[in-house]
Amino acid sequence: MSETFQRTLITSALPYANGPVHIGHLAGVYIPADIYARYLRLKGEEVLFIGGSDEHGVPIALKAKTEGISPQEIVDRYHRIIKKSFEEFGITFDIYSRTTSKIHHQTASGFFKKLYEKGEFIEKTSKQYYDKEAGQFLADRYITGECPHCNNKHAYGDQCEACGVTLSPLELLNPKSTISGSIPVLEETRHWYLPLDKHEAWLKKWILEDHKEWKSNVYGQCKSWLDTGLQPRAVSRDLDWGIPVPVEGGEGKVLYVWFDAPIGYISNTIEHSPDDWERWWKDSSTRLIHFIGKDNIVFHCIVFPAMLKADGTYILPENVPANEFLNLEGEKISTSRNWAVWLHEYLEDFPGKQDVLRYVLTANAPETKDNDFTWKDFQARNNNELVAVFGNFVNRAMVLVHKYFEGKIPERGELSDDYDCTALNELKCIKQNLEDYLNQFRFRDALKEAMNLARTGNKYLADTEPWKLAKTDIGRTATILNIAMQITVNLAIAFEPFLPFSSEKLKRIIDKKDLKWNGLGSIDLLEAGHELNQSELLFEKIEDEAIEKQIQKLRRDGGCPSPINH
Ligand code: MF3
Ligand code: ZN
Repeated sequence: MSETFQRTLITSALPYANGPVHIGHLAGVYIPADIYARYLRLKGEEVLFIGGSDEHGVPIALKAKTEGISPQEIVDRYHRIIKKSFEEFGITFDIYSRTTSKIHHQTASGFFKKLYEKGEFIEKTSKQYYDKEAGQFLADRYITGECPHCNNKHAYGDQCEACGVTLSPLELLNPKSTISGSIPVLEETRHWYLPLDKHEAWLKKWILEDHKEWKSNVYGQCKSWLDTGLQPRAVSRDLDWGIPVPVEGGEGKVLYVWFDAPIGYISNTIEHSPDDWERWWKDSSTRLIHFIGKDNIVFHCIVFPAMLKADGTYILPENVPANEFLNLEGEKISTSRNWAVWLHEYLEDFPGKQDVLRYVLTANAPETKDNDFTWKDFQARNNNELVAVFGNFVNRAMVLVHKYFEGKIPERGELSDDYDCTALNELKCIKQNLEDYLNQFRFRDALKEAMNLARTGNKYLADTEPWKLAKTDIGRTATILNIAMQITVNLAIAFEPFLPFSSEKLKRIIDKKDLKWNGLGSIDLLEAGHELNQSELLFEKIEDEAIEKQIQKLRRDGGCPSPINH
């Protein structure tokens, strides 16, 4: 980290509380953010990791209507499920709050008001569909009609899902209100807009010149937005679910969900540290990093920074390491079609195997392009990597120390042959290599590096064959097993950000708690004579039947609406 930064504020996109979270969320946003937070904490840096649920917006209001309950009931249900899933997968938020909290309403409202008073908005009147029967303006999603492109009769006011085209409600043929079924009429409505065009010049310099180091998928998307030219964006909506527009003329209107949600990062910081939240948001020695998926790039790289700049007292993000999408068995993950692996269901089928999913989703993370999750790959990575490489090495080393040295770390003699040197040379590089990757948000490569150290350990044992030497040369056996155990304890540190549960377990069986990132690469972490606990297996094989079951479940339930969603 550059010397000018003293702390890191990590945010992860606030998931919509209109459904549970699935592996795509975890792979794209929450695992990388958690790895990064754990890594920095392990290094002893000051970190604040913010999460929370995004509880406003049209889809939530719509779902409540469909179910005949209040939007608050919807978000209460999913906020609880989502929060629990994150806890179970070891996502170490310092706070996981929600945008229906009182403090968020106050913060977002105050944010809007300040911009309004500073003259940072423009006001515009436009014609929008109004449902006379329901007595309300209709959000784009509340209107259905015929698609002018493919004549699909059930297109929405913002999109036709049959041909994929983006629509405006005015383009729909024979529009109908989904609320009352009546034919809507056009009426004038007044809204506040953030004039992004006025922010274009500084945004161009800030991103295109000063942040060339951003990931190419992020930089590229920003460049294309900026090259096309920015337009004013409405920051209010005619809706009754959300944060009321707190200024004159705002009756019956709420803040646009994409205006209020990112402010949730700030409100959640305030909720966590009411007395010194400004240190995290207004001090240029704080490094702000947003973890998001690719569909959120424009909001985090352009809209939210423009909001922060318009206020004038906030820092801007230093990096926005957005990921691409994760597909499932070759198809796009779809909540409505139930083509997904839901986190709460995974844990029912694979209890205690959080780290297996964390491992697979990181090894196969959609960092630079969309990637595919398949159950076969999940099984292969578990069996061939976690079990056969990492688990196997640790277990062999532990068992041999128990067998020949009563579970006590043996004394290391002179390092003798090439095998020792090769292994130790690899160990020496691990810290630098991991840091280089982690600092660049290249979590897949970092994880591969950690796994390579376990490979080194396995090869070392295979080459030196201490079980053969034990009868003839116990001194040399001692040296080998000392080295093998130093590699083992290093693995506990190296894997900690990625596989926190397994790392904990490993530390427990080695009986070594106080391990610091700084110790990584050392061959003196375990003193001769240190006593190990009994060995336990870190991972277990996953059989074909368990995988077949998952594939069948997907084929059976996929394509039908999820029971939990409807
Ligand atoms: N709820 C949005 C999504 O799931 C993300 C909101 S991120 C925030 O795509 F910045 F607005 F909080
Ligand atoms: Zn269409």
